[in-house]
Amino acid sequence: MGRHGFGSFFAPFLHQNEPRPLPGPTARPPAPWSFPRPARGSAPGPHAAPRTEAQGRQAPDREDIQSMNDTSSPFSLAGQTILITGAAGGIGAATARLCAAQGATLILADLLEPGEIAARIGPAADGAVCHRLDISQRAAVEALAAGAGPVDALIDMAAICPFDDWMAEGWDESLERVLAVNIRGPINLTRAFLPGMAARRRGRIVLCGSVAGWMGGVASGPHYAFSKGGLHAFTRWLARRGAPDGVLVNAIAPGPVETPMTAGQGYRPGQFPLGRLAAPEEIAAAAAFLVSPGAGYVSGAVLDVNGAVHYR
Ligand SMILES: NC(=O)c1ccc[n+]([C@@H]2O[C@H](COP(=O)([O-])OP(=O)(O)OC[C@H]3O[C@@H](n4cnc5c(N)ncnc54)[C@H](O)[C@@H]3O)[C@@H](O)[C@H]2O)c1
Repeated sequence: MGRHGFGSFFAPFLHQNEPRPLPGPTARPPAPWSFPRPARGSAPGPHAAPRTEAQGRQAPDREDIQSMNDTSSPFSLAGQTILITGAAGGIGAATARLCAAQGATLILADLLEPGEIAARIGPAADGAVCHRLDISQRAAVEALAAGAGPVDALIDMAAICPFDDWMAEGWDESLERVLAVNIRGPINLTRAFLPGMAARRRGRIVLCGSVAGWMGGVASGPHYAFSKGGLHAFTRWLARRGAPDGVLVNAIAPGPVETPMTAGQGYRPGQFPLGRLAAPEEIAAAAAFLVSPGAGYVSGAVLDVNGAVHYR
């Protein structure tokens, strides 16, 4: 069918598809494949006052974007300082390795001692600063933020998923702990790190949801599914909050992944459409993309990486 065959409904839009003269070499703006870097030291600390509404509506400076160094890859993380929590876990460690390989400077946090975090990650942790941190403890998170210096991106991979019986005696304590880690943790982290990013007018936040937050989960309990559904909603709330200051907020919703979290819990590869669970590196790749220059216009997304386990 010729394009005019679509009828008058599309008529007002058709002119937009007319071929346009190609711009000459000098007309092409530089690719925005790296971050604008304001002078260090000019940024207020992470506890800076929130921007006023008028300031908040000011769009990030386009000139800033065009004056960025033009690097060869939209996925390079060179020059970025990235904080990864849950860094000793399956997906967190894979994310740390990938971000280091892309040139990022890493700050790594987990419940484990620093030496153990580094050991789980391997040589990619050389040069990283490792911290023992419980993300459910607001004061500890604030202390880390106060001492960390400017952080360009936060990737929160810390979470727990107890496989227990919600009807069992004492389960309420499990519920409390899941909410403390999986919900209050991301709130603690983003409250601590968003103000500094907003003051610098740039930043990335990647949270980790789950397919369980959409469809109730494969084997996980109601506390976990509930926490991940809440995390998806929180991601969208925070994305609106961060956008006027150039802070992009997204989440990943993985399907089943082969990590210590799922080990021994009866997940069978054959029960999934691709005939296998995901490798941690396949979730890490999504996280690294979301903090990369190439994702510069992605915010408020909950990116499904679930191998066709669930559509929405
Ligand atoms: N594995 C899966 O199938 C799957 C599926 C969907 C989503 N996810 C999500 O992916 C993320 C990473 O999970 P994973 O599979 O790598 O699990 P994992 O258990 O291997 O890693 C989780 C890490 O978080 C750390 N952690 C737990 N509580 C913490 C706390 N209070 N403070 C700081 N660190 C804490 C643990 O020590 C561990 O190193 C989690 O958000 C998880 O909910 C995993």
